[in-house]
Amino acid sequence: MLYPELNPPFRILLGPGPSMVHPRVLRVMTTPLVGHLDPAFLQIMSEVQVLLREVFRTTNRLTLPISGTGSAGMEAALANFIEPGDSVLICVNGYFGERMCDMAARLDAEVHRLERPWGEVFTPEEIDAALHKHPAKLVALVHAETSTGALQPMEGIADVVHRHGALLLVDCVTSLGGVPVYVDNWGIDIAYSGTQKALSAPPGLAPMTISPRAEEVLKQRKTKVPSWYLDLTLVQKYWGTERTYHHTAPITMIYALREALRVVLNEGLERRWRRHRRNAELLWQSLEELGLELVVPEEYRLPTLTTVRVPEGFNEAFLRRRLLEDYNIEIAGGLGAFKGKVWRIGLMGFSSQRSYVLLLLAALEDILREMRVLPMRANGNGEEEEPVEK
Ligand SMILES: Cc1ncc(COP(=O)(O)O)c(C=O)c1O
Repeated sequence: MLYPELNPPFRILLGPGPSMVHPRVLRVMTTPLVGHLDPAFLQIMSEVQVLLREVFRTTNRLTLPISGTGSAGMEAALANFIEPGDSVLICVNGYFGERMCDMAARLDAEVHRLERPWGEVFTPEEIDAALHKHPAKLVALVHAETSTGALQPMEGIADVVHRHGALLLVDCVTSLGGVPVYVDNWGIDIAYSGTQKALSAPPGLAPMTISPRAEEVLKQRKTKVPSWYLDLTLVQKYWGTERTYHHTAPITMIYALREALRVVLNEGLERRWRRHRRNAELLWQSLEELGLELVVPEEYRLPTLTTVRVPEGFNEAFLRRRLLEDYNIEIAGGLGAFKGKVWRIGLMGFSSQRSYVLLLLAALEDILREMRVLPMRANGNGEEEEPVEK
């Protein structure tokens, strides 16, 4: 059977990712391919590494994109530094901390969990106390928990972790390019991200950076990294000076990342962080004016991802369906413990635009009126319109 030409609907992507891809990024993705060992491509790879260091705010030599989505970055970050029996401390306050525990357990680590309720964040003192109880080789946390919309404050955390002789691993998937990330100043040893959030490229690469201290730990491993594909000692031979073939680089995605990083740095990181905050604040204030409740206190609310509490007795999927079908706007429901309880609205990269926020708010207001969550507007005859089924 011959299907018709691909023609997916045009959507405004205001969910937890992917975000809208920047038009400049889409354009470079139609650029003809060169080979993955072509001198021209090797030059492009070096440029991507320089740009990535700027965006991560690091001088780490070992900075490169892993082929695969954010979860590949997570798996590479854990698999390269954990050996069987190693003790690790994982901070769990949402879905992605939970995923890290699962991955670390599969690597035969001795996993210790430091837990906070979903939507809350950790203090350096709590991490210190946990490390006194369970000394660990590595402490992992999620900077921007996409499942809850909480932004983990980073001040003082590396000091504690390093005082205990551990490495600090941070998931920056929903923070890099949207909110401040300072890998070197914050003392982060291992950080990874994803291309499909605030960097506004398609999903497919996981930018990653490794401190010299972590490189040393990698060098001292007694066992081979259990994943051949994600073994940084092998991947580095392709991205470093040797340029030895490891796997065929996803050329088009590397083009896309290069352009996405150029877009980020053209705008300027600080300006970009301010834009994300400004648009998020407009969203937060307007949602509260509509009578909706935000889950995370403003103090550590994440500008790239907002969680909104679903009012009691409300069919949350109905609202999302209406937004998608009638307004072409995608937002998401909750994951895990928040399933059915929250909506998740992402304002990441190219999706963080005032016009999109205003469009979403207008659509939400229309739907909430029809659902009688807000009072109905009178129609032209002074009569209320028919309510719709919740
Ligand atoms: C904080 C965080 N970590 C990791 C991931 C996994 O990334 P991916 O879905 O691209 O594999 C996500 C994806 O949403 C995320 O939000």
